[in-house]
Amino acid sequence: MTHTVCLLPGDGIGPEVTSAARQVIEASGVAIEWVLLPAGATALEFCGSVLPERTIAAIEGHGIALKGPITTPIGGGHGSVNVQLRKRLNLFAAVRPVRSLPGIKTRFENVELVIIRENTEGLYSGIENEIVEGVVQSLKIATEKACTRIARFAFDYAGSRGRRKITVFHKANILKMSDGLFLRCVRKVGKEYADRVACDELIIDNGCMQLVSDPTRFDVLLLENLYGDILSDLAAGLVGGLGVVPGANIGRTCAVFEAVHGSAPDIARKGIANPLACIMSGVMMLNFMGETVAADRIRNAYDAVLLEHNPEQLTPDIGGKGTTQSFTEAIIRAMQ
Ligand code: NAI
Repeated sequence: MTHTVCLLPGDGIGPEVTSAARQVIEASGVAIEWVLLPAGATALEFCGSVLPERTIAAIEGHGIALKGPITTPIGGGHGSVNVQLRKRLNLFAAVRPVRSLPGIKTRFENVELVIIRENTEGLYSGIENEIVEGVVQSLKIATEKACTRIARFAFDYAGSRGRRKITVFHKANILKMSDGLFLRCVRKVGKEYADRVACDELIIDNGCMQLVSDPTRFDVLLLENLYGDILSDLAAGLVGGLGVVPGANIGRTCAVFEAVHGSAPDIARKGIANPLACIMSGVMMLNFMGETVAADRIRNAYDAVLLEHNPEQLTPDIGGKGTTQSFTEAIIRAMQ
């Protein structure tokens, strides 16, 4: 069976890492027809919009996409294409598995956590205005509907994967209404799953301290949008950095798979970006599509390459002297 998958190369290192993921996925034996779609800076240049309508329509139509990172200008310019995409396609749940990898030495071994982030509201929606000159406000939106939806998603996810515990990070002591609502919804949904999945809660500042002190005590972390964004990068730092943490944005009718990292302008077009996070996102995508044999082949291959730890093959961020392409080719060879 041939699948049709949308491919958004994105900005910065996006074209490099999505090309690597495409090569590896194709070598795994899955038949995919890729629909190349513009989004981000290149889309603006050639289509006059950072997020052309045909890109949205194609993802809606095919239901699945692999996406590279997209640059968002700082302190001005256009709004985030990523935020727009998640809102337009109602990709309400971000799922980010963070695990210790063979051959990558970090402070902790046996990290095996999953971050689940509410993806559509909170402060991260970027709804801001200037009330009078010199005074601005940013709105933090929380709705019972979205908080309950992400809570149910997280408990279903945990229950279906044999995960034991969900820990919700919040700041409901200060943000009594918005984080208070989030927490109440999680508690309410949690009661329905109490026989299968335990649930505890931490005020986020304490949660961060606990996470960097001993990440192995956590299983599934559930957070609202902005906290989930920040904690994802923090957690990546515990297992080898942004080059090794994948992600999925899941909605009811569409799913968009992308690494946690951004467009990394500092290393773009140097050929040294780590493609693994994007390849791992591709593996999540294959599992989602039911192509579990191909997904396992790729996962076993990159685990073997990491374990071998040949510096000539690996990218510099994980201690290698190689390139995006040398790493990609090593993974493809390991599959044969
Ligand atoms: P970033 O994740 O792009 O880079 C942070 C650091 O990690 C940089 O030193 C970079 O070189 C390194 N890094 C990231 N990915 C890497 C990889 N695959 N291999 C090796 N090193 C890697 O975060 P930054 O610099 O804060 O943001 C850059 C741009 O990316 C911004 O415009 C931001 O808005 C955007 N961004 C987009 C995301 C998306 O499209 N989902 C997510 C995060 C940021």
